[in-house]
Amino acid sequence: MKYNFDEIIPRKGTGSIKYDKMNVFFGTNDLQPLWVADMDFATPDFILKDIETRLSHPILGYTMRKPGFNQSFIDWMQKRHAWKIKQEWLDFSPGVVSALAVAILALTQENDKIIIQTPVYHPFFDVIEGNNRTLIDNPLKVNEKGHYQMDFELLENQIDQKTKMMIISNPHNPVGRVWTKKELLRLGNIAVKHNLIILSDDIHSDFVYDHHQYIPIAELSPEIAQQVITVTAPSKTFNVAGLSTSVVIIPNEQYRELFRKKMSTLHLFLGNIFGATAFESAYKNGEGWLDQLIDYLSNNLDFAVDYIQQHIPKIKVHKPEGTFLLWLDFSDTGLSHTQIKDKLINEAKIALNDGKTFGKNGEKYFRMNVGTPLANLAFALEKLKRHFS
Ligand SMILES: Cc1ncc(COP(=O)(O)O)c(C=O)c1O
Repeated sequence: MKYNFDEIIPRKGTGSIKYDKMNVFFGTNDLQPLWVADMDFATPDFILKDIETRLSHPILGYTMRKPGFNQSFIDWMQKRHAWKIKQEWLDFSPGVVSALAVAILALTQENDKIIIQTPVYHPFFDVIEGNNRTLIDNPLKVNEKGHYQMDFELLENQIDQKTKMMIISNPHNPVGRVWTKKELLRLGNIAVKHNLIILSDDIHSDFVYDHHQYIPIAELSPEIAQQVITVTAPSKTFNVAGLSTSVVIIPNEQYRELFRKKMSTLHLFLGNIFGATAFESAYKNGEGWLDQLIDYLSNNLDFAVDYIQQHIPKIKVHKPEGTFLLWLDFSDTGLSHTQIKDKLINEAKIALNDGKTFGKNGEKYFRMNVGTPLANLAFALEKLKRHFS
């Protein structure tokens, strides 16, 4: 079956955060939204059909996840990413971010230090600081070509007795790196050496382009696996973020028990019927759909990067290795961060994520989500050209 990702589906009025909550963040709803990281494509038909089938039974009482839930994910990870996961390593979480928060509560104490690599997905700050842990920033290094790398030297210097954990994003939101085996091995070995727990947020792992390859850090060696908690979900891949259903992989038995205990005391383990149905359906049936989606997104990314490089050279950009997000560098425009933001909202009338929410080093950057029909993307790029070239 050939899927149609060009179809424009109106979302205004559905309660979509991306469309209906712009006024809270941008002061108006009258913008073209390319911010929140969900996609403007229909959730695949096979998922909607399985939800409809479940809905045809009129009772929606307390419902457990069936054995096919875990198995569908195990098979997916084996097929798509060559990672052999054992049943007993798996746990449920409503969200990826809630799993990060639960892991922090379960495995660290107040005032313990937790490292992140800015610029990075902003809720990482909230789950650390909001839970009274100390945030340590290990900023990514960026070269003049806009290529980001981990700063291992600084990292080793930052780790002390109070440093218990590190949260990574693989592929990295917002800079689009897909961490290589070499980088992850180096990081994993540092974690083993210093008994550092790595929370690996791999929610974007199904979005990888060209020759790049997603590698789960826990897959690199049994020793490294003991230090890693991986969290992922079908929510980005299959556009089902509104169904709040994620998965946690914890090979270390002691960490797994502590995580489960915290999930239990917070009473977060139940989940919802439609999320469970969608999860299983996605991972069982989703390969063909995802392959077509990746082609479409890759084309969108190429189109946007070519367009910007050709028509708006003051904005620096390159194709991300993974994710469906472009990290736009406006520093050559000669404008201040506030001026850029003002122009985006009041003149170009497009809603992009403010780079400063990802960390101090996001100054003069804005993040653009290309998970939208090409016609929408082209329209937004034309407006950017009109106001920034
Ligand atoms: C890196 C990353 N982690 C987590 C999430 C959100 O996950 P959840 O909604 O399951 O908490 C996002 C969404 O944009 C993300 O980009």
